[in-house]
Amino acid sequence: MKACIRDTAAAVTAVSAAVALAACGAGAGSDPDGDKAPRIGLLLPDATTARWEAQDRPLLEKRIKALCATCVVEHVNARGEVAIQQEQMDSMITKGVDAIVLVAVDARSLGSVVAKAHAADIPVIAYDRLAEGPISGYVSFDGEEVGKLQGRALLHAMGDSVADPQIVMMNGDPADPNAVSFKKGAMSVLSGKVKIGKEYDTLQWRTETANMNMSAAISALGADAIDGVYSANDGLAAGSISALKANKVDPLPPVTGQDAELGALRRIVAGDQYMTVFKPFEPEAAAGGAMAVAAARKEGMDRVASDEVRTRGGERVPAVLLTPVSVTADTIKDTVVKEGLHTVQQICIPQLRAACDRAGLT
Ligand code: BGC
Repeated sequence: MKACIRDTAAAVTAVSAAVALAACGAGAGSDPDGDKAPRIGLLLPDATTARWEAQDRPLLEKRIKALCATCVVEHVNARGEVAIQQEQMDSMITKGVDAIVLVAVDARSLGSVVAKAHAADIPVIAYDRLAEGPISGYVSFDGEEVGKLQGRALLHAMGDSVADPQIVMMNGDPADPNAVSFKKGAMSVLSGKVKIGKEYDTLQWRTETANMNMSAAISALGADAIDGVYSANDGLAAGSISALKANKVDPLPPVTGQDAELGALRRIVAGDQYMTVFKPFEPEAAAGGAMAVAAARKEGMDRVASDEVRTRGGERVPAVLLTPVSVTADTIKDTVVKEGLHTVQQICIPQLRAACDRAGLT
């Protein structure tokens, strides 16, 4: 019960506090699993983006254990490969796990194996990315809002000094439904206000691909003709910024990002990246873990899901939808540091000391 109190206090939104409380209530007291040790499969999409292994995995495992001491989490990572993730799903079904938490590499291609799990009476919780097929629950952030925050920040950073600003768009992988929502949200803000000089979809969200594409954009448009870079996440921002630097683009145009990665926060303090989007991992994992335990115990989602979404097939799915937060140099302290994602000591390496002082990171 102690862990419940501590985690509830750390929850950052009202929704997540409700989730944490409901989850604590469900897990406290007698052991609902008796001698049975429920098994939960956790299928992560790639090792390219830091968050999955560094944040989501440990937080989900911790939350699941806090709610269900006997639960066993079986974790695998598809390393960006659809075929590998399909095999991993098949293997979880063959083993007969009690529930699956899935971050789909490719939502559409995974639809049939999600249906196979459902037919085998194994509930699938779509974590962060809305999987296709008969899923039992979904937790994520408002993806279009993420794109709007990025688009607005980019417009703000470019200001009014450039008459007809030209940007490069570094979008995510279109097989990930989030990437589609990020772009839709961004375009709703940017349309009619910027010229899109070059636009790329980044398969498997690879940093190296963004790097290559940015070099191509610089060659095609000219080093002085890029006024801003819409980058869907911090990994793509890292690849884009290193290409801009390698091509001696100076000053660097504003570049957006997402995930509040440590490297991104350091680039923001240094002035190399303009912003990131912080999607607090703790409440997302709290909701995902609570849904997974409820699903493994064959309980309903009413105690853990406060929202509802519709899948592409039109089915209503119980959901938890959280709110993303825009972060620039002057808000790092009040957002990611305050919420305990990274400390000032972690962000402010010695060579950033002066820049950190300017950003009030002391
Ligand atoms: C997640 C982002 C992440 C991206 C690449 C998206 O589905 O919402 O947080 O940066 O995938 O892994």
